[in-house]
Amino acid sequence: MTAQPDIGTAENRVDGTMKVTGQAIYAAEYHVRDLLYGVVVSAGITRGQLTSIDTSEARQVDGVVEVLTHENRPHVPWYVTDEDDSDASSKQPFRPLGNRNIMFAGQPIALVVGISFEAARQAAMLVRASYQEASHNTCLETALPLRLTPEEKKKGNIIKGDVAAACATATARVNQRYSLAMEHHQPMEMHATTVEWHGDGTVTLYDKNQGSQHAQEQLTQAFGYTAETLKVINPFVGGAFGSGLGAAYQAYLAMLAAIMLQRSVRVMLTRQQMFSHVHRPACIEDVSLACDTASKLTAIALQATTSTSQSENYTENIVGWGPTTYPCDNIRLDYAVAAIDTPTPGNMRAPGAATGMTLFESAMDELAYANKIDPLALRLVNYSDTHGLTALPYTSKALKEAYREGAARFGWSNRSPEPRSMREGKELLGWGMATGIWEALVFKASARATLDKQGVLTIASAASDIGTGTYTIMAQIAAGVLGLTLDRVNVSLGDSSLPQAGVAGGSSMATSVGAAVRRACGKLAQELFETVSQSKDNPLGTLRFEDVEFCEGNIRLRTDPSRFISYQDIVARSDACSLHGEGSVDPATDSTSAKAKNTHSALFAEVRVDEELGVVRVTRLTLAVAAGRIINPKTARSQILGGAVMGIGMALHEESMFDHRLGRIMNHNFAEYHIPCHADVYDIDVLFVQEPDSEMSPLGAKGVGEIGSVGTAAAIANAVYHATGKRIRDLPITLDKLL
Ligand code: MOS
Repeated sequence: MTAQPDIGTAENRVDGTMKVTGQAIYAAEYHVRDLLYGVVVSAGITRGQLTSIDTSEARQVDGVVEVLTHENRPHVPWYVTDEDDSDASSKQPFRPLGNRNIMFAGQPIALVVGISFEAARQAAMLVRASYQEASHNTCLETALPLRLTPEEKKKGNIIKGDVAAACATATARVNQRYSLAMEHHQPMEMHATTVEWHGDGTVTLYDKNQGSQHAQEQLTQAFGYTAETLKVINPFVGGAFGSGLGAAYQAYLAMLAAIMLQRSVRVMLTRQQMFSHVHRPACIEDVSLACDTASKLTAIALQATTSTSQSENYTENIVGWGPTTYPCDNIRLDYAVAAIDTPTPGNMRAPGAATGMTLFESAMDELAYANKIDPLALRLVNYSDTHGLTALPYTSKALKEAYREGAARFGWSNRSPEPRSMREGKELLGWGMATGIWEALVFKASARATLDKQGVLTIASAASDIGTGTYTIMAQIAAGVLGLTLDRVNVSLGDSSLPQAGVAGGSSMATSVGAAVRRACGKLAQELFETVSQSKDNPLGTLRFEDVEFCEGNIRLRTDPSRFISYQDIVARSDACSLHGEGSVDPATDSTSAKAKNTHSALFAEVRVDEELGVVRVTRLTLAVAAGRIINPKTARSQILGGAVMGIGMALHEESMFDHRLGRIMNHNFAEYHIPCHADVYDIDVLFVQEPDSEMSPLGAKGVGEIGSVGTAAAIANAVYHATGKRIRDLPITLDKLL
């Protein structure tokens, strides 16, 4: 018999076989009877108005059923008015086919629906639109003078002490402008929705998103449905990184078409259309740091601006992370957004921190050189056991251990401090480091545990596994509580009708749903115990709950393991055909510690730079992570690996490049939007430091989905400086900037 898994063991993915054999079904793959196919027509200008849209030629294509535009689409509650005059000034979320206004390049202006994808695609090319063009701007730098401080972020704009005075008397200073290019989430699976029209007033949406119930809530409100009449199914999600936190625009288009035609409809975005959706905003930040002779920070002044759309102010926490990590007496934080003519940005893996901490940690590296101190020593001098802005202690913070263990594994002490001082063959060698920080969160979540007559346990929650390993860790947690092998546990996720769960976002899924699963299984254990206690001819005698253990599919006596009864027998003794337990977590009662809750990381990078060609290779990365209890070291490591690869992309590759004259993204495809591929990724060493935490969450876990993406790019950029002596402050560091 295989050993019983428990929290902390490196189990393989329970859904791995289904994924590699194609049995896992994704949103655009559901077979639905009499399905129609919708193809999105995207706008040909960046800003202005549609003056006419001619669909006659498209309608003549064999197999075309309908062409939806703002002129003929159904009137559903989502649109404020029938003509939906929401425009730039009204700060409304974008509603495709709302009206004639064009607010960004690639905006959907029509949906062609046909009996085949091919017919719809051919007809989509024949939709003729005329526009009245208005001037546009897609460049953040140009929009900077128009920056607005978002109302809700005003309290985040802190002034403390006297920055100018501290700078005047500082031993060393850094005063530079840093920037990060716009990035687009590019999960392997494009956004897609298959609407199944049942014809009885109910619909089922197979939709790619990060939370079945959150998408359900948005869609029911938009279309006047209820949780009973509109169901969202997403058991498998091919990555999302934040792009699927809500329903994407194709879900609304597919529903509009289904309502109009009373038919089942599928819409999938193309890779190019994925660039007319959410993205990580571009950022420009002025960073001023000052320190005293002992390298203690005496001033931090940050002025950051991120891009937003004309229609909404999307904000993230860019400026808070550095001063949270390193306390300082004199602080000035200023964050604002500037509107450009793009879709509204959105959350992308570690939103705010991935940008803010990367730029801040680059400046910290400059400060280390300015004051002639080792970059790691600078972090240690400024180390704090309390939150730098609130002064609260942490529920746990093993960052010091992460620095120590990470540095040891990387061999940091062998670094020669001077730039361009390490070389191997034709290549310059550079070593850089940085700190990462992210939040640890618990969301409201529930789960149900059901044991059937065969002794098989089923765990159910509306939660989604976006590729992170949620199925696996939920199975492990359940198996651990009830003493079962993983092959006796089914996990059912990704269905809005299952017990309540929030989005797979904010690195909160493991802590939240995991705790709910453990409680549900605890309740089920009690139910099993009571059922056997109350049954006739109870083989265990008169017992207390403390006297038994749940092991190998049996309840058995702790004092005499030869006396046991199997779960199958217990279910058979009950009147029901299965036994149940339900469990929930709620941050209002389960994560009430007033202390600061964060994950941390110490990041070390090695780059090799070909001096003649400027080619940068990230040949080694060490990520030492402090994230509380690690439920599955294997899937957790994969999360950090993925985050680190995105960090390589942020440092060297990823950039949505505009032709500002046209307002269009030029590299809207996988050939030209560079994402690190296999050949770009060398050795990544992940280690988790011990960080016991009984206050943060019922499981002691903190979440690992995002921390790998925070600061990794800074460690790489700092290594590039160490290798070359060139400080590139505008990420990504592409060849042209380095040569
Ligand atoms: Mo994540 S950006 O919290 O999906």
